[in-house]
Amino acid sequence: MELLKDRIIKDGTALSETVLKVDQFLNHQIDPVLMVEIGKEFKTRFEGVKIDKILTLESSGIAPSVMTGLELGVPVIFARKRKSLTLTDGLLTADVYSYTKQETNNIAVAEKFIQPGDNVLIIDDFLANGEAANALIHIVTKAGAAVAGVGIVIEKSFQKGGKELREAGHHVESLARIASLGAGEIKFMDEVRN
Ligand code: G4P
Ligand code: NA
Ligand code: NA
Repeated sequence: MELLKDRIIKDGTALSETVLKVDQFLNHQIDPVLMVEIGKEFKTRFEGVKIDKILTLESSGIAPSVMTGLELGVPVIFARKRKSLTLTDGLLTADVYSYTKQETNNIAVAEKFIQPGDNVLIIDDFLANGEAANALIHIVTKAGAAVAGVGIVIEKSFQKGGKELREAGHHVESLARIASLGAGEIKFMDEVRN
């Protein structure tokens, strides 16, 4: 998605060889106009795919998910990051391991929001090692629902998440795919041979 890639070049900062800061439009300040375009792009990318609802993870997945839900006319559910590990009644839960924080967090969705037979599109802001996406897939599967696809705003293709999800047979659509990050340099996948 050219508009997004242009914006990443303009406002994104490579903090290291692995971390891209995009708090000007996605992770802290949000650009609603860009989010509307992201919603339209996901609609196009998943044309012909049956989608009953969208599942994301708070907080940065919510904005692109809501705009996509608006385009598709379907509800959006966000998994909550849980503070308490007790009281799991009526909840679908999964663990998410964070490589950066080196800690495991539990996320949860109320069972009533994902029903057997639902076709669920998973959306998130970043795809790195795939921990969050896999936890959301786990929740959908536990509910007896089907994963319609995985929509990612920014995929860091040099980390293993995207490759593993595609190898597992998921329909993954990433609106920008980063090949590498360096000092003051952001390279996209379609600009490098691989
Ligand atoms: P890791 O695989 O790269 O170690 O990432 P980790 O699981 O630790 O993810 C920690 C948070 O950082 C997640 O958001 C994830 O989406 C996000 N993230 C991963 N890589 C990048 C990156 O290169 N740049 C930015 N800006 N974020 C990245 P979160 O904690 O769930 O936060 P939020 O959704 O509330 O914003
Ligand atoms: Na996130
Ligand atoms: Na984030």
